[in-house]
Amino acid sequence: MVQGENMNIGVVGMGFVGSVTAAVLADQGNSVVALDIDSEKIARFNSGNVPIFEPGLRDLILKNKKNLKFTTDYEMLKDSDVIFVSVPTPNLKGKINLEYVYMAIDSVKSVNKDAIIVIKSTVVPGTGSKIKGEFNVKIVSNPEFLREGNAIDDTVHPDRIIVGGEEEYAEKVANIWKFTDSPILITTTENAELIKYASNSFLATKISFINEIANLCERIPNSDVEIVAKGMGYDKRIGRLFLKAGIGYGGSCFPKDTEAFITYADELGEELKIIRAAKKTNEERIDRVIGILKRKFGKIDGLRVLQLGISFKENTNDLRESQALKLYRSLVKQGADVTVFDPVTSVEGINFCENLGDCLSDADVIVIATEWPEFKKIENMNIKVPLIDGRRILDPEKFEKYIGIGRCCSD
Ligand code: UGA
Repeated sequence: MVQGENMNIGVVGMGFVGSVTAAVLADQGNSVVALDIDSEKIARFNSGNVPIFEPGLRDLILKNKKNLKFTTDYEMLKDSDVIFVSVPTPNLKGKINLEYVYMAIDSVKSVNKDAIIVIKSTVVPGTGSKIKGEFNVKIVSNPEFLREGNAIDDTVHPDRIIVGGEEEYAEKVANIWKFTDSPILITTTENAELIKYASNSFLATKISFINEIANLCERIPNSDVEIVAKGMGYDKRIGRLFLKAGIGYGGSCFPKDTEAFITYADELGEELKIIRAAKKTNEERIDRVIGILKRKFGKIDGLRVLQLGISFKENTNDLRESQALKLYRSLVKQGADVTVFDPVTSVEGINFCENLGDCLSDADVIVIATEWPEFKKIENMNIKVPLIDGRRILDPEKFEKYIGIGRCCSD
């Protein structure tokens, strides 16, 4: 196949990864059938009321209406040359649950025995080979590295494309991604699967590493983790990205993947000590923030907190494993009276404030929990109460009582 040749492509699982993959590949001129078993979700994709908040996704879907079909019917995949599987792989008691992947492969095989099936879902090493043996299908591993909130750009301009599997099939899948002009590594399915876990675990470790340095900075006069990270980041071997200290990492990937990787390695008799430590450090982040509040106010009970941000990071409404949501719950559990402002998310049972300006006056303290750029606005709002910058996005000089994570010794 030559580069640029359009193909019939199927995508199973319309989460972030699946819907973005489908939209981007349709935009490249391929005929794409996008499938999910959730009929409500599919109805929303079909009506243009896209059920996923991801910048640019709705427009890309509408632009490619002609060659992007959403369905719940596996029969529609019978003519697909290549079928991407991007269904969830949640953890069950700390261990990866591959049930949805197996169900999807089984359903694909029942309508199309010849297609190359590409596993995009994050799966533990050995899964691709196992499925190939059990189902007798053409399997390729093509892990995903997109970030929510930046998903389209990450898919069109990824740092690298990893494709694992038998050369003939892997080459075909690699060809689909040639338009990205990114480096393509073709390897075994096991290596591809490992690259995904090792990458996510490394990034999670990088965040926990800087968060530990932040803890230290809080005790050293005249120190600030932001400057330390900046100074470290100039070293190309270290790099400046993912060295942002804060209230910890969340989302549907880092917490789940690190845990599943640790369990997987344990079963092989290898302890992943560094990743285990990164996980522990992350789990302690919420208590660090609570500790700052306790030192400042003596107790949490009755404290009126305005929390800015509830999603797991900026530019998304995703609450999965959100540290901001964990912080909210912990504060409420300890008796705080918490109001939340978030630019796009609202959750039933949580007291949300619609307009940031309106809720400032009722708070004893403001806590930044998510890195939304628009929170910068409060720099000009003449805030008098203490402000805890849990994501280090604000200029300390703009506040009377600024307390920053990793900054000595403001609390
Ligand atoms: C992550 C990876 O970055 C993607 O490469 C990968 O494809 C994806 O998981 C996945 O496995 O599907 P994502 O979870 O969308 O992407 O979000 P990130 O931007 O990586 O952020 C994860 C968490 O780390 C967020 O809670 C964020 O606030 C936190 N973070 C990130 C920090 O606390 N500090 C940083 O310097 C960077």
